[in-house]
Amino acid sequence: ETANVCDIVIFGGHGDLSLRKLIPALYHLCSDGYVAPTSRIIATSRHEVSREEHLALVKEKLQLFLKEGCFEEAHWESFARQLEVVTVDLGVEESYGALAAMLGEQPDRDRVNYLSTAPTFFGPICKALNHWGLITPVSRVVLEKPIGRDLASSQEINDEVALYFEEQAIFRIDHYLGKDTVQNILALRFSNMLFMPLWNGQDIDHIQITAAESVGLEGRHSYYEDYGAFRDMIQNHLMQLLCLVAMEPPCSLEADSIRDEKVKVLRSLRPFASSDVSEKTVRGRYTAGIINAEKVPGYLEEGVPPDSTTETFAAVRAEVDNWRWQGVPFYLRTGKRMSKRYTEIVVQFKEVPYQIFANKGRCISPNRLVIMLQPEESIKLKIMTKIPGLSEQMHLREMALDLNIPENAPRTPEAYERLLLDVIRNNATLFMRRDEVEAAWRWADPILEEWEGGAVGLKSYAAGTDGPTAAIAMIERDGRSWYEEH
Ligand code: BG6
Repeated sequence: ETANVCDIVIFGGHGDLSLRKLIPALYHLCSDGYVAPTSRIIATSRHEVSREEHLALVKEKLQLFLKEGCFEEAHWESFARQLEVVTVDLGVEESYGALAAMLGEQPDRDRVNYLSTAPTFFGPICKALNHWGLITPVSRVVLEKPIGRDLASSQEINDEVALYFEEQAIFRIDHYLGKDTVQNILALRFSNMLFMPLWNGQDIDHIQITAAESVGLEGRHSYYEDYGAFRDMIQNHLMQLLCLVAMEPPCSLEADSIRDEKVKVLRSLRPFASSDVSEKTVRGRYTAGIINAEKVPGYLEEGVPPDSTTETFAAVRAEVDNWRWQGVPFYLRTGKRMSKRYTEIVVQFKEVPYQIFANKGRCISPNRLVIMLQPEESIKLKIMTKIPGLSEQMHLREMALDLNIPENAPRTPEAYERLLLDVIRNNATLFMRRDEVEAAWRWADPILEEWEGGAVGLKSYAAGTDGPTAAIAMIERDGRSWYEEH
């Protein structure tokens, strides 16, 4: 592949996401030769900032956020030559002049407009780009989540952006889709015969998806207070994981083939009746506790309004109403300030039809496929095997067939590297189409309405635990339990 030449504009260029994730990802793409040295990376800033100040800030953050050993002075020098900064007041059309002049120097170049801002700016930014004649046939726009906080507001945002960009030029990012192991789900499912006949409700008992975080809000309270765990994680990231696990084989790897299959899953999600919500969902909020031997305050002690009802933990029992998944519950849960950080998908197969091994009180576990996304990336198939030896009775134990990435493998790229490169290459496979985002909201809305109407109480959990006991009760009511290997 020859290095791609393009201009990338990051709106909200001095924001947390840009400095923590986007610019480090671009640093790798440039130093690995995917993005040509003539490409420009233009950050917009609300405040007047000189280029020197910008470079100093970016350098400081790269040294902070790049993985150890990745910052190299020689790469930095060449990367720094690609960096530009312009002052733009995003809501004020007249203030885009300097940006227009800069882009105008390369009128025919592919342009990536990355909107790393609050969604209220998406419409105004697109309108201003249009006003200044900056939307060319090779311009694309990247929208960060959250795209709305319910179906109606997401439609409004999508409508506004659609006034200026064609759907195929709109890249709605869900960074979970950029994680290498997430793409490995596709490889595992659709390039191995092994799982194909088993991947359905006859052989699979249930599926669990957990995204636990030990961090708290990391200074993002004003955003989080408006959204909460369900909107922040379940409606997008966990739903996307569910889609990849549940979708039918796509007819090709083309963007729309995959997205057609995902949207079918989302449309098959069983709608929640209001009477189901209290039984099949749990919302929680952390109180003070201890994580890694450190005392941390509760959510309400972190400066949010005292009458806040925002949840920091959410669990839901979802069902997919189609032939393949009848009778297979999907248990999803996510939370902040939990005991540890891990994201994992567990596909639990059914028990054998008849058990001939007594196994002396030891448990005989059903097979499980455990796909871990973080902190490590791994895929393990848990199976029962004989314990070696001459004992009279045969004893069994659970072993893992390990499909792990070898340790000497090249560095796994960060999610944002993969996704930014895909935007630059104009490949939308790992981005959400409008109908997907809206189908996910259509499913989420009734749950959130019930929650906001107060039908499901907010359960507390101490920071450093695995969430409220109500979430354990939810799965235990079905005679199952959360998988715990950690
Ligand atoms: C973001 C959420 O989308 O994903 C954050 O807004 C969350 O609240 C983050 O912490 C988790 O991402 P990752 O890649 O660390 O699992």
